[in-house]
Amino acid sequence: CQLDKWAKEAGLKYFGTAVDNPSLSNQAYMKIARDSSEFGSITPANGQKWSNTEGSQGRFSYGSGDAITSVAKQSGQLLRCHTLVWHNQLPVSSSFSRDQMQRIITAHIQNVAGHYKGQCYAWNVVNEVLENDGTFRQSPMYRAMGIKFITHSFKTAAQTDPLAKLYLNDFNIERCCNAKINATISLLKTVIAAGAPVHGVGMQGHSRVGKSPSKREMKEAMAQFAELVDEVAFTEVDIRHTKLPVTAEDREQQARDYVEVVGACLETAKCVGVTVWDFTDQYSWIPSQYPGEGEACLFDNNLGKEAGVYRRGQPP
Ligand code: XIL
Repeated sequence: CQLDKWAKEAGLKYFGTAVDNPSLSNQAYMKIARDSSEFGSITPANGQKWSNTEGSQGRFSYGSGDAITSVAKQSGQLLRCHTLVWHNQLPVSSSFSRDQMQRIITAHIQNVAGHYKGQCYAWNVVNEVLENDGTFRQSPMYRAMGIKFITHSFKTAAQTDPLAKLYLNDFNIERCCNAKINATISLLKTVIAAGAPVHGVGMQGHSRVGKSPSKREMKEAMAQFAELVDEVAFTEVDIRHTKLPVTAEDREQQARDYVEVVGACLETAKCVGVTVWDFTDQYSWIPSQYPGEGEACLFDNNLGKEAGVYRRGQPP
């Protein structure tokens, strides 16, 4: 069973994966990543971020992004583009006036979304704008412009690439209901009322084995977003073990947790697809971000479909 083929048969638009630049030279990896019956969509894990596309103000470069997007193009895969405005991997740290920041955001989006115009099925326009308690993240963009940076980013993205689905993307908004979900809803209402063309909500979906939200909780969260936007998606799924080495039971739990995510998407009419944040533990960001945790992906370090996870990770 191949993931995208299965997902399409079951009614999703795609099953996708993140791909990062260092893995492009790994032929065994690329054979799987390019296999469009395994992955119908690709997201550059880092290549399109601010630090890679505008390393210093006004100097744009697309080598890292293009290296990934060209793979998707050659393989006939959709592209989920990631991300235009984020507080991380952002070489803009000093404080700017409202006008300066607005010009910086405009130039960045016009350049980057302009460069990829017509290629992206979706863009994560803004990423991680809220804190877990529902307050706004005090990013350089928020400090300079307040909530207007979000409205402005969506409007500029829409003018630049009118066919891309424009998403707000965040983590910890998968499990209904919490302060961050409530804040996301009110943020969406505010920016949509101010004219921001928000088409989708992306739920990153990073979670921990055994602590991952249930299908019911995820469906309830999506039902709320679906009242305000055309589509929702899981955009960065990985489910990490918090203690290593893992046991057979841990793996079975992980498989059930993955099944819950895919099942929640399948049972939500507006959920278009699931993207995993890389498919192999070999390139997972988890061990460096959460030392001592890992084995979060569908394939193990040797690109073997993990016993259990891959097989049972398929929806029935
Ligand atoms: C991660 C990448 O996977 C790492 O390689 C990089 O060092 C840091 O960023 N949320 C996001 C992604 O939106 O862009 C992050 O990706 C993971 C968390």
